[in-house]
Amino acid sequence: MNETVKTGVIGFPVDHSVSPIIHNYWIDEYKIDTDRYKKISVDPKLFEEEVLRLKESGTLGLNVTVPLKELAFSFSEEQTEVAKQTGAVNTLTFKNDKVYGDNTDVVGFQRSLDKETVENNITNKKCLVLGAGGAARAVVCALSNLNGDIFIYNRTLEKALKIQQDLGIQSEVVEQENLSTIIGEISFIVNTTSLGLDDTENTTVDFTQANPQAFVYDLIYNPKLTKFLSAAKERNLGFQNGMKMLIEQAAESFKIWHNIHPQNSTELMNVLEEL
Ligand code: ATR
Repeated sequence: MNETVKTGVIGFPVDHSVSPIIHNYWIDEYKIDTDRYKKISVDPKLFEEEVLRLKESGTLGLNVTVPLKELAFSFSEEQTEVAKQTGAVNTLTFKNDKVYGDNTDVVGFQRSLDKETVENNITNKKCLVLGAGGAARAVVCALSNLNGDIFIYNRTLEKALKIQQDLGIQSEVVEQENLSTIIGEISFIVNTTSLGLDDTENTTVDFTQANPQAFVYDLIYNPKLTKFLSAAKERNLGFQNGMKMLIEQAAESFKIWHNIHPQNSTELMNVLEEL
C-alpha cells in the first residue's frame, strides 16, 4: 500500500464501502481540485504505521469505518466534543502536522430524520435503540440531542450498561423479558445491530405489539428493505433505511475537508438506489 491518497476511507474489510461513490460524486459536482477518494484496507494491527504513512504522504482526511473507529479516536491528537462523547472517530483530518478526530455519524443521523419524525416520534417520546456497538453510541447521542426518552436493548446486557455509563446520557437499559412489555409505548425504534446485513433475520421486536404510530429506522442500507423494515412495513408503520444517514455523515466529512457542504441531491440518491 504505497499509493498516495488525498481523501479516502479506511476499514477492515473496506470493499463494501460506498463512500467513494458519494465523495467522488461531490468532487465532480463541485469541481474540487483533488484526487479521487479511495478505499484503503488497513489491518487494525498496522493501524498506526499505515495512517502515519498516509499523513506523511500528504493525505488531507480519512473516513474511518469498522472496526477502526476506536483506534482512530486514540490515534487522533485533538477531538471534537462529540467524538469525545462517543469515544469513536469516523473522520480524521491532517492539518498543520496535527491529527484531528471528529464523529459525523451523530449529526448524520440527526440530519437524516424528517422534521415530522423528530416532532411526532422522538422529542419527549420513548425511543428504543437496539444494539450497543459503535453505531448505537452515535444514535444515542443524537437522540439525546433531540430530547428523546432513550431505552437501550442489546443481546449482551453488559454492553448496553457500558454505553449508559460511558456516555453519561439519561437512558434505561431494557432486559429481553421486558421488551414485549414496553414495546407498545415506544414511538421510535432504531436498529443499530448488524442483524439484517446479508438479508439475515432480525426478529428482536414483535411489530404486532408495536404502537401503530411508531416509526421504525434501520441503519442498514444494503439491503434497502431489511427483513426488519419489511416487518414494520407490513404493519403499516413509518420506516426508513440508513442511506440518508450515510449521505449526511459523508456530507459533514466533505465539509470538514473541502469547506463545502454538499446538498443531498435526488440524483445521488438515485445512483445509490441503483447499486
Ligand atoms: P457497529 O460499530 O457497527 O455498531 P459493533 O460494535 O460490532 O458494530 O456492534 C454490533 C452490534 O450488533 C452489537 O450490539 C451486537 O450485539 P452484542 O453486543 O451482543 O454482540 C449486535 N449483534 C451482532 N450480531 C448479533 C446477533 N446475532 N444477535 C443480536 N445482536 C447482534
